[in-house]
Amino acid sequence: MTEMTRTAIVTGAARGIGAETARRLAQDGFAVAVLDLDEAACKPVVDEIVAAGGRALGVGVDVADEQAVASAVRRVADELGAPTVLVNNAGITRDNLLFKMSVAEWDSVINVHLRGAFLMTRAAQKYMIEAKWGRIVNLSSTSALGNRGQVNYSAAKAGVQGFTKTLAFELGKFGVTANAIAPGFIETEMTAATAERLGMNFEDFKTANAAMIPVARTGVPADIANAVSFFVGAAAGFVSGQVLYVAGGPKD
Ligand SMILES: NC(=O)c1ccc[n+]([C@@H]2O[C@H](COP(=O)([O-])OP(=O)(O)OC[C@H]3O[C@@H](n4cnc5c(N)ncnc54)[C@H](O)[C@@H]3O)[C@@H](O)[C@H]2O)c1
Repeated sequence: MTEMTRTAIVTGAARGIGAETARRLAQDGFAVAVLDLDEAACKPVVDEIVAAGGRALGVGVDVADEQAVASAVRRVADELGAPTVLVNNAGITRDNLLFKMSVAEWDSVINVHLRGAFLMTRAAQKYMIEAKWGRIVNLSSTSALGNRGQVNYSAAKAGVQGFTKTLAFELGKFGVTANAIAPGFIETEMTAATAERLGMNFEDFKTANAAMIPVARTGVPADIANAVSFFVGAAAGFVSGQVLYVAGGPKD
């Protein structure tokens, strides 16, 4: 490990946007902690990073569990290095119209996105403050602007934006920036599951969505990993508290 190697944590990194972000940050020179619910599920991403010459560690953790988060972050610090980059990416959907939505559907979505981002950030910030340098990137969504069938998810993703802006205020003087990325439609197992729930073939679902997107295609995980790479990089030190919509067109 060179003196300059920094450690990044990516949550929900066993697949989808998180996995691509973990691979990208490893290419950028970070040692990467690949966190997800099941440690074994992290192994393919870790193996890929190591095979490409990088350093990585898989850690099983439920980001909504206070004790599990505390020990996972400690383990990353001990085994990989003090984490000074955190990407809060872990997420779930439990879509339903308001009148049918159960308390369990509401709570699970709020817990993973908001409680999870809070617990992870609280645990990781001390390493950033000690290093007088840190980068936090939180995954929001275009659903923050409202989306039928997603009162829980849209509330969580709008909450992530407020959370991010407050982190920017509190942590800026310690050399820590916080930004949010709000993806539009990205091709992952999450959107494949949405297609299945709607009884649609994924290819047809992608085509239908692409027709509503100004750049005329759906997004891929690399579109988001590129934005994360910018926010955590040296060039973005004066960018904090922002929400970047990566959605193939304008959103407001
Ligand atoms: N795919 C999209 O179109 C899209 C759009 C906007 C925002 N997002 C957001 O981007 C992020 C990644 O989405 P994705 O499409 O890659 O989803 P995905 O379902 O493919 O992957 C999410 C990962 O998070 C993990 N995870 C879920 N709950 C967890 C928990 N409690 N603790 C630890 N890990 C947990 C899952 O096991 C999974 O590996 C999410 O926050 C999602 O809300 C996705």
